Amino acid sequence: MTKNVLFICGSLRKHSLNRQVGEYVRSLLPPAVCAQWLEFADLPFMNQDEEFPTPSAVQRVRTEVAATDAIWIFSPEYNHGIPGVLKNCLDWLSRPLEPGSHDTAMKGKLTLFCCAGGGAKARYCAADLAETLSFLQTDLIEATHVQVALNRHDYTTDELALAPEEKTALAAQAKLLCSLLS
Ligand SMILES: Cc1cc2nc3c(=O)[nH]c(=O)nc-3n(C[C@H](O)[C@H](O)[C@H](O)COP(=O)(O)O)c2cc1C
Repeated sequence: MTKNVLFICGSLRKHSLNRQVGEYVRSLLPPAVCAQWLEFADLPFMNQDEEFPTPSAVQRVRTEVAATDAIWIFSPEYNHGIPGVLKNCLDWLSRPLEPGSHDTAMKGKLTLFCCAGGGAKARYCAADLAETLSFLQTDLIEATHVQVALNRHDYTTDELALAPEEKTALAAQAKLLCSLLS
């Protein structure tokens, strides 16, 4: 049976290098694992005054999350933290589906992440994501998380060139996910 993985990119940029990491990972997945990107640029800013009735974009995002077997986040680091657009998305996903309920779209969901950034390989974002995904009670495969170092070539051409050891690490991450999904 086909398993579904929802990719979430922490960058909305058209030529995002993190999104390119995700596309590389997609090429590693077997045919029985279907990866789709979650598009979420239309989400409003989190505002508790607007939680109910649930805004339509929030409902769509939650429906896609509910339907997937796993979530794989690919994200840059902005100012030593999670980019605001991604944090906003996670904040919406952290909230109850109904007033007074304890159920969220994220609870118990298999999650993993990869962060690509400058010299420090987006380590602050990686640490923040580990904390947030744990707090949201997701089933985080933290041990495997991969940090990719973006270099001058990547930044100036907007074309990702992964190092051999990064390809190996991503392949190991993909293999572990597939083993958990089967
Ligand atoms: C607002 C902003 C803050 C940034 N802060 C950091 C940072 O703290 N650490 C880092 O490694 N790169 C930082 N960068 C550079 C990003 O790593 C770089 O722009 C990267 O290419 C963004 O990922 P993307 O290609 O997936 O869009 C920042 C970029 C922006 C736009």
